[in-house]
Formats: sequence, structure tokens, C-alpha cells
Amino acid sequence: MKKLMIIMTLALTFSYWAAIPAQADPQPYTVTNGNQLDSQTYKGFKLYRNWCARCHGTYGQGLAGPNLAQSLNTITYEEFMTTVAEGKTGQIGMMPAWKANQTVMDGRDNIYSYLKARADGAIDAVKPDKAK
Ligand code: HEC
Repeated sequence: MKKLMIIMTLALTFSYWAAIPAQADPQPYTVTNGNQLDSQTYKGFKLYRNWCARCHGTYGQGLAGPNLAQSLNTITYEEFMTTVAEGKTGQIGMMPAWKANQTVMDGRDNIYSYLKARADGAIDAVKPDKAK
């Protein structure tokens, strides 16, 4: 009986860990000459401009939605990924969920890189360019 309990506990523990998805790390960005982004990060800026800028400002400085250049200093990478997928309703307002938008979902990492570069002050609220 004791043996069975141990086996069951082990099995449960294992299935619990196996159900947790692997945590990916945010991809790094590079900024040269003040506004030149690596191609992935530049792609992130373009996605950001198309899908997010109307509420969060052209360069993430905030509009109807919060300043994301500041938010990314406080929220974690995982929180960012979840918020974008699930949306968020809070004191400021309502952000739609993006999980049905494959373009945004596939580009979340790139968008994160751009906004992280903004949050770190690596690029200011200036028009980015793609590094040659
Ligand atoms: C229709 C307007 C709208 C659009 C479009 C929009 N958002 Fe938002 N977003 C908001 C609002 C409003 C909030 C604040 C919700 C609250 O906490 O009250 C928010 C919150 C967030 C937050 C959480 C910030 C924090 O400090 O907790 C993140 C991250 C975010 N948005 C990312 C994005 C990204 C990335 C896109 C584009 C894919 C996007 N948003 C598009 C309106 C929008």
C-alpha cells in the first residue's frame, strides 16, 4: 500500500511537470546608430505599428492604452505574452485579445523585442530603420 502511494505520487508529480510548457527566453535586440534595428526587431516595430500603435502610440509612448515603453520595465516577458494573447480589462480600459490573430501571435516575440528596446532606452520615440 505504501509502495503504491509512492508510485502514484511520483506519477502525479511527473505529469504535473510535463504539463508545464517550456519557457522560452525573449529574443535579444540590437540597435545601432540610435535607430537601426536588427531585422527581427524591425519586423516587431512594423507589427506594432500595424496592430498596436492606434491605442499605445506610434512608438509605444501611450495614447488610449498605457505607455508600453514603461510597462515593459514592470511586467515580465510571460505577462506580456499572456496579456497580448488574452487581452486585458483594467482601470485604463479594455484591450482586445489577439489569440485569433495569427500574424500578431507569430510576431509577439518580435513586438516584445521592439518594446523592450524602447523600455531600455536603446531606441527613443524615433522612427526606426532596418540595419543594413
Ligand atoms: C483597442 C485599443 C488597443 C489595442 C489595439 C492594443 N491595446 Fe494593449 N492595451 C489597451 C488598453 C486600454 C490597455 C490597458 C488595460 C488596463 O489595464 O486597463 C492595454 C494594455 C496592454 C498591456 C499591459 C500593460 C501593463 O502595463 O500591464 C500590454 C502588454 C499591451 N496592451 C500590449 C499590446 C500589444 C502588443 C498590442 C498590439 C498587438 C496592443 N496592446 C493593442 C488597448 C489596446
